[in-house]
Parts: sequence; C-alpha cells; structure tokens
Amino acid sequence: MIDVSDIPPCDIEFITDLRHRMQQLNPVATSAHCTDRFYIHPSLKSSSHIFLKVDRVQPPLRQPYTGPHKVLCRTDKTITVDINGRKTTVSLDRVKPAHLLPETALSPPPVIKNLKSTNVNTSKNDEPPTYVTRSGRRGHETVSAAIAWALYLIGLHSDVQTKLHEEMDKVFGEDTEQPASERNLSDLQYLDCVLKETNRLYPTAPVFGREIQEDTNISGHIIPKGTTCAVVTYFLHRDEEVFPDAEIFDPERFSLENCIKIPEYAYIPFSAGPRNCIGQRFAMMEIKVIISSILRNFSIESLDTRDEVKPFIFITLHPSPPIRIRIRPRGVVCNLWKQFQDTGSIERKPEQGRSRATTATKDCYLSIIARRNKGATASQVSRDLYAATGTRLSRVTVSKRLHETGLFARRPAVLRPAHFYQQESPFSMVQRA
Ligand code: HEM
Repeated sequence: MIDVSDIPPCDIEFITDLRHRMQQLNPVATSAHCTDRFYIHPSLKSSSHIFLKVDRVQPPLRQPYTGPHKVLCRTDKTITVDINGRKTTVSLDRVKPAHLLPETALSPPPVIKNLKSTNVNTSKNDEPPTYVTRSGRRGHETVSAAIAWALYLIGLHSDVQTKLHEEMDKVFGEDTEQPASERNLSDLQYLDCVLKETNRLYPTAPVFGREIQEDTNISGHIIPKGTTCAVVTYFLHRDEEVFPDAEIFDPERFSLENCIKIPEYAYIPFSAGPRNCIGQRFAMMEIKVIISSILRNFSIESLDTRDEVKPFIFITLHPSPPIRIRIRPRGVVCNLWKQFQDTGSIERKPEQGRSRATTATKDCYLSIIARRNKGATASQVSRDLYAATGTRLSRVTVSKRLHETGLFARRPAVLRPAHFYQQESPFSMVQRA
C-alpha cells in the first residue's frame, strides 16, 4: 500500500485518478495459450485432391507436403484421403488443396509434337516458349535432367569426383548436415565448371527455335524473312574449333583462364538474347544445392559407359536407358581407402564411418546449455555453442546430440495467419465464402 502522507498533492491527484480508472477496467476472460488457430483454405471444401503436411521435423531439402492425395470424404474437422490405396483420416490443419490441371493440359503441347517430326516449329518471339509456360513441371524437368546427367558424368570420372569432394570439404568443413548458404554455393567454383561442362555435352534444352525477322545472309545462303530456324545446342556445343576433342568430358574448359577463350554465342545452354532462360540462375543454384548435398555425404559410381547411355530428346534431353548409379556413404569409403593405403588391407571395424562433428566436451557443453535454457530451440542452442566454442553445428545435429542425452530442444513455433473467423468452426469461413 502507498503511504499518501509522503506524496506531494499533485501526485496524490494522479494516483487517485489512476486508482479510479483501474477500478473501471473489466477483467478479460482467460484463454488457453496453446489453442492453435489454423487457416483453412476455402477451396478445401470442394477440392478433389489435397497435399498432406508431414507432421515431424524433417532434414533439409525434404518436401514439407506429400501428395496430391485423392479426397474420399470430409467432415467439419477431418478429411479422409486415399494414400497408396489406404483410407487415411487426417485433421484439416495438416492439409492444403491441390489444384490439378485437367488431363488435356498435361499432354505434350503441339510444339513438342512438331519437334518430333522433321518440320521444326517453335514458339513465336512474342510469347514465352510453350514448354516452360504450360506448367511448372517443365522447370523441374530441365533441372532434374541436368542433375541426372551431372551425376552420371561425375560417377564416370573418379578424378573429377575426388576434386569435387576436396572442394566440398574445403567449403563446408566437417559438418555434412549444415544447409548450403549462398556464399557456400558461390565458393563451389569447380562444381560450377563441372555443371557447365555437363550442360555443354548434354544440354537439357537441346533445340529451340527462332523466327527470322529479316532476310539474313549466313555464309552465302540467304535465309528469307519469316523462316523458322532451329538452334541445335547439342551440335553447337560440339564444335571442334571451339571445344577441341568435344566428346571428352573436361570441366577445365570452363576454368577462369580457359572460359574467356569461348566465343559469346558458342555456348548457350540457356539460350541467348532477350528471350533467354529467366530461370537460369535459379536452376544453377538448385542444381548446385542438390549435387553438393549428395556429394558431401556420398561417393557415386556410374555403372554404364557413355556408349551404352544415349541422349534421347523428349522436350528435354534424357538418358536412354535410364542411368544406373551406385551410391556409397562417403565417410566409409574414404576411411577404407586410407586404411588400405596405410596397412595394405581393408578390415572393417564395426561402426566405422564419418567422424563425429562434436567432441565429448562439446556434447557435454550442449547439454549444459539446453538444461540452463529449457525453452531454447535447437538453432538457439547451436548459436550459443558457436558463440562459446566457435563450432558450427546444424540444428539437426544439435537435436540428435540432445536426444542421446535424453534431452529435447523446443520445436520452433509455427506462425499461422490468425483470423477471427477461425475462432468458430474450422469450416465456418468456407460457409461464409
Ligand atoms: C538446367 C535447367 C534449364 C535449362 C537448360 C533451361 C533452358 C532454357 C532455354 C534454352 C530457354 C530458351 C528457349 C527459347 O529460346 O525458345 C529457356 C527459356 C525459359 N526458361 Fe529455362 N531452362 C532451365 C531451367 C529453368 C527453370 C528452373 C525455370 C523456372 C524457374 C525456367 C524458366 C524459363 C522461362 C520462363 C523461359 C522463357 C523465357 C522467355 O521466353 O522470355 N527455366 N530455358
């Protein structure tokens, strides 16, 4: 209680006023903090397919949703879907609608059908190429084919793979779980050369077209205005004058000192000019992230020679028959190789593998940090460890180490859009729409 006798009169007036106002406040009803409000997409009420959220912490580069799954029936709070032939009922907060294209839209566009015949007919200059705009699948196809070709060529050339492994170790260090940052990706110079050389030998967009805007003289041949010309990068990139021994896979062609010798339009896997590929930088980044995360952990070996794997054009350049690759965990292979060099034999000890990213002292430190701050997430614990010891650990490693000692990091809060409609039934918003 405040002793009013010591307080100057002006302050007494203030306190009386404050007391009066506080008495007028109405208590607000308490609410449970953990009540999770979630957003229900209006079209969930009618969508024929849905995507289902994976309800656990996932390692990097895993898809957060599975599907699309066919909807069998729905209630106000749940939805029953067909997952691999099994009826599964899931809560509405884990799903989002899948908007599928009609079957006809998924069939190859006329441009592609024409490309298969001798009469090459391609997109006009005033509209983006059909193969990219018809659906998002096209962006994936080019990238996935490029990744397949790159892995195939890396698996065939062990010297190239050794160099790539060395580069990965230099750029990422010991921790194979830390996600690649933009800085890491730009440091992967040799991988860049390997991908460029792959795109030279197997350009995933092997042919594209241009309509000639005016009569053009090429080496004494007049090409009349309006003619559609096909640019066949597959052959362009095999020009012996620019790329001697063109069939040989040699990433050094694209090293800093060599690539300046390549003429401007002699190497155009992403086309050139105003209508070149707008996804070029994104595609290269995507490919680098995926290939680096594979090579950081695995060694690969291609099982078929280049004579056996033929390039096959269906919109993009695909290997035919499909590439076969043997993948081995990297740490084991390296250790065996070292052991063989040292001792001349390869006797495997149980549990031999990649060295641990943390020492026993660091593990102990991790558990102390986690015990002191029980509400900390794995990322926070990882940051604290970095500040104290200079060791960087991914949140997955932190979670694993804590798990081993019987501790758990708090899972990060998921922010969902709050909406006052959702205080009612989850479908109330849909009914209003
Ligand atoms: C290795 C991967 C890729 C390759 C080799 C590639 C190649 C090409 C080529 C050669 C063209 C020009 C076609 C023409 O001139 O007729 C093109 C255009 C285009 N690409 Fe890509 N692409 C790749 C990945 C991507 C990705 C991931 C996206 C989207 C994120 C994308 C979006 C586009 C778009 C929108 C165009 C049309 C640009 C315009 O006409 O203005 N591409 N691509």
